[in-house]
Amino acid sequence: MIPVKKYIEDNAERFLEELFALIRIPSVSAKEENKPDMLRAARLIKSYLEKAGVDRAEILPTSGNPVVFAEKIISNKLPTVLVYGHYDVQPAEPFELWLTDPFEPVLKDDKIWGRGADDDKGQLFMHIKALEYMTSAGSLPCNIKFIVEGEEETGSAGLAGFLTDNRQMLASDMILISDTTMISTETPSITSGLRGLAYFQVDLSGPGRDLHSGLYGGAVINPCNVLCSIIASLKDSDNRITIPGFYDDVIECTSEERQEMARRPFDRAKFMNSAGVTALSGETGYTDIERIGIRPTLDVNGMWGGFTGEGTKTIIPAKASAKISMRLVPDQKPERIAELFERHINRITPPGVKVNVEYLHGGEAYISPLDTPEYQAASMAVEESLGMKPVPVRSGGSIPVVATFEKILGVKSILMGFGLESDAIHSPNENFPLFNFLKGIESVILFYKHYTKLKIS
Ligand code: BES
Ligand code: MN
Ligand code: MN
Repeated sequence: MIPVKKYIEDNAERFLEELFALIRIPSVSAKEENKPDMLRAARLIKSYLEKAGVDRAEILPTSGNPVVFAEKIISNKLPTVLVYGHYDVQPAEPFELWLTDPFEPVLKDDKIWGRGADDDKGQLFMHIKALEYMTSAGSLPCNIKFIVEGEEETGSAGLAGFLTDNRQMLASDMILISDTTMISTETPSITSGLRGLAYFQVDLSGPGRDLHSGLYGGAVINPCNVLCSIIASLKDSDNRITIPGFYDDVIECTSEERQEMARRPFDRAKFMNSAGVTALSGETGYTDIERIGIRPTLDVNGMWGGFTGEGTKTIIPAKASAKISMRLVPDQKPERIAELFERHINRITPPGVKVNVEYLHGGEAYISPLDTPEYQAASMAVEESLGMKPVPVRSGGSIPVVATFEKILGVKSILMGFGLESDAIHSPNENFPLFNFLKGIESVILFYKHYTKLKIS
């Protein structure tokens, strides 16, 4: 049997070529024009899974983009791990800020550059290569299934129905996911929680057309101004969200949990630098780590309306809009938040403008318990490959399907991510360090060894 490290070293070049072929497919789920690329990406993943030695691999339709399902079952007496990943990526715009083509990946400065290099093509691919090693070495210690979706970046709308319809096929003992970050390879971490999400569009309309701001201005209400006041009023001077009832279901962390969290290494200067800001601000009474990990947020993602072209135009605009999202924490429910938000916006919108609130998508937060064989196996695997016991970290990001897995399949997930904060996911120049990619493969292989040992002993 070839040792894991040697196999990875000997095959690293081929791994990269294969991953690059996947990154070259612009599988942007947000864009209609990329519809054909979704199927192309699904097909390539299916073929990679087949080459990695699964007994069955299929592309299955959902109400949205297709899902790739695959499995290798070695014994019904052994545990089954379901691996989840997504083949869709975020749009690459603005293209002009990329130093290399987002869909023509390159290896430069020991990093893989391209859209999806980390999120989630690179991280998903680690699992396919881990499987390839285990089947070729005959060392796969348990059953393995894959579910790879193509709509994560747009809210996984079709996946809940797919899970409900395919419970039996997807039956497993745990779900393993690499779609998150760790603090660093010197201070490894495992994600112990994710925030939920509720995403909205708010449209305001006032005058029936753009009006001359001299003839009407001062007497006619301006939707752009109103939108600004509404948004400004959604937080108070302590940066608390003012929507009545918003915090009702928030579970406050205990002081022990907060003390534990405070022990986590956090380099404030590095964090500010990675964000390109010179100061931080957030909810009064909470640390930076708490603000990101255990507190809900409300943010404007973008807003538009009126005249934004070259030069000047003197108008009272007819319309104004904003995309507003909230990160949620246990036990906030996105549907409940949607009700509260819509009611509140309707109440505070002044006469003279009409408002429409559309709830676009959402998902619940997730907490991963630490006292389970699943978490312990992940911790042992990362410790063995990176030489340091990982610390649990509650991430601020969201993978809405993780809570859905628990609800519909009744199975908990382990979030063993190998990305770094500096990987610029969703941004120009997304990248994934080669070291993390290769260590990720090694860690996944070690995970199966430890997990199976802990489960059958
Ligand atoms: N992989 C990310 C989520 C993530 C990244 C979690 C890093 C923790 C650390 C995922 O692809 C993502 O981008 N999720 C979206 C939510 C989705 C509904 C658009 C997010 O968090 O904005
Ligand atoms: Mn992702
Ligand atoms: Mn993402």
